[in-house]
Amino acid sequence: MIEKASVILLAGGKGTRMGSTTPKQFLHLSGKAIVLYSLECFLTLPWVHEIIVVAELEYRPLFFDRSPIIRFALPGKERQDSVFSGLQKVDPSISWVCIHDSARPFIDSSLINPLFHEAQIHGAAALGMPLKFTVKQCCHNQQVVKTLNRDLLWEIQTPQIISHPLLKEGYRHCHTHQISVSDDVSIVEHLQKPVKIVRGSYNNIKITTSEDLLFAEYILKGIHVASL
Ligand code: C5P
Repeated sequence: MIEKASVILLAGGKGTRMGSTTPKQFLHLSGKAIVLYSLECFLTLPWVHEIIVVAELEYRPLFFDRSPIIRFALPGKERQDSVFSGLQKVDPSISWVCIHDSARPFIDSSLINPLFHEAQIHGAAALGMPLKFTVKQCCHNQQVVKTLNRDLLWEIQTPQIISHPLLKEGYRHCHTHQISVSDDVSIVEHLQKPVKIVRGSYNNIKITTSEDLLFAEYILKGIHVASL
């Protein structure tokens, strides 16, 4: 039997670093809301059982009538709380949960299918890319403590796919010990269970500031040229 996953599509952030009153995931890129790029990608994947869009009520009409497999959850204060809110709506019979930041529009099946394959082997998997730059650890006054070995460092992206029971166990652990995380597989790391990193793409950017919007338009044009 083919394994199925529920997608939690995070669109509950306020995007204050963009300096716009509209949250970044609802801004337009080449005439289309940023959130719709990844939504449309997930809708093409046969192993996606349902898509839980985490968004405030006022933004939900954008998703109405797009697909019968779309459901909704309310955002929480932090990203981690929004994922937990989405998790409450996941069909209990589904074995896998795929979490994606809707601020990353440039995903496709060639990235997500291998990720799902690896998640099924290891229990949890995230997309990531080797770091291009040197990273230094500093103390609070910006004095360098040490330079980290770049060869071992990966920049982590979404989607991230985690076994449904493992993710629920991880949240119980984090709530009990009041642990905050900035991505989802960190929850699995806190349980000391394996996490596999699958090579993503340098184009899989997270749109955060207005400069990223310009870069995203450029990537989009590049993709269109490449697919001609
Ligand atoms: O703020 P940041 O860029 O890290 O947010 C990553 C993703 O998480 C975005 O898609 C954002 O909409 C979502 N988010 C959320 N709820 C929050 C904070 C962020 O759904 N409370």
